[in-house]
Amino acid sequence: MKKIIVNLGEDSYPIFIGGSILSDKKLFDQYVSGNQILIVTNEKIAPLYLKIIEMNFISSDCEVFILPDGELHKTLDSFYQIITKLMEKKFNRTCVLIALGGGVIGDLVGFAASCYQRGVKFIQIPTTLLAQVDSSVGGKTAVNHPLGKNMIGAFHQPNAVFSDTSVLKTLDDRELSAGLAEVIKYGLIRDIKFFCWLEDNIELLISRDSDALAYAIERSCVNKAEVVEIDEKETGYRAILNFGHTFGHAIETSLSYKEWLHGEAVGCGMLIAANFSKKLGLLEEDQFNRIQLLIQRVGLPTKIHQNVEFDCMYENMKVDKKSRDGILYLVLLKSIGEAFLTSDYSEKILKESIKKYFH
Ligand code: NAD
Ligand code: GLY
Repeated sequence: MKKIIVNLGEDSYPIFIGGSILSDKKLFDQYVSGNQILIVTNEKIAPLYLKIIEMNFISSDCEVFILPDGELHKTLDSFYQIITKLMEKKFNRTCVLIALGGGVIGDLVGFAASCYQRGVKFIQIPTTLLAQVDSSVGGKTAVNHPLGKNMIGAFHQPNAVFSDTSVLKTLDDRELSAGLAEVIKYGLIRDIKFFCWLEDNIELLISRDSDALAYAIERSCVNKAEVVEIDEKETGYRAILNFGHTFGHAIETSLSYKEWLHGEAVGCGMLIAANFSKKLGLLEEDQFNRIQLLIQRVGLPTKIHQNVEFDCMYENMKVDKKSRDGILYLVLLKSIGEAFLTSDYSEKILKESIKKYFH
């Protein structure tokens, strides 16, 4: 089992990566203190992994809350239902929330933990590749608003992250590819060595080779931890983790969070951002081609979904959280492994670049 520490002073926490963590009672005993525990999961994950988690808490007051599946339920209404459950059960400030699921459950439960009685502990048990490499680490928690993704949220770090690679065997192929989009992101923004490793090993990841997956999760988490340690509250540098996301989030909002998975939208968004970087003369053509090829090999979409209209997508980009005083900042690439944040670009070229990705 690998252990990575996210060093954030008194908010520091470990990420464990291994093949049999869900049944590791000792680990749970070490990190889940207190008697009042609420496991939150969804209808798809509960039949697969809830029992094995519950077995770790047979002597505690362990409650379960099961939500419907999907991004559509990452809402204030679901948040409110979790809070209601905690109050009905008279949970106090020493309770621990456990998020068992993908990024939707993790973001939602983290947000509930940040607000309940002004903040309680929570543990992330990410069950998608995307959640294991990205959303479970770093303390960003949120729910969506119909007008924009993740618009209501807080920074609230988990107390531990338990990433069990064995759960990835039940993931759909599309979900695996969506997670690989975020894995590729780390190579692109700050780790060219990892990008080259991905070029050499992408087929192993697609075939779910457990050693390759564990290595990719570890490298992703190390990169994410380093960025978060430098800029926890995203005053600047952390924005590079949003490479491709300005375009991706705008696509997702235009589709009302249906049709495409988050990672699929991010994959397409990274391609648009890389292409725009090339158009601005920042990124070499051959590097762009390598990026495009890797995204294609993973099976991520390389054109914007046909139900998205340009004007709607462009309007949605303006509510991006990287906007400052009405100016939209974008994360672009100087080269593979070197991302930066800028508002120094021509809107005309930006619009042309995006339009190229419409069917
Ligand atoms: P998700 O949580 O909807 O999970 C994807 C699907 O896989 C769901 O149907 C889920 O029920 C199912 N699933 C989960 N684990 C499974 C398993 N082991 N076997 C079979 N099916 C399983 O989506 P996601 O891609 O994990 O996360 C996307 C969300 O994460 C978005 O809301 C996004 O905004 C958020 N996110 C947050 C951060 C952050 O830093 N907080 C970073 C990236 C993404
Ligand atoms: N996923 C973006 C971030 O954590 O900052």
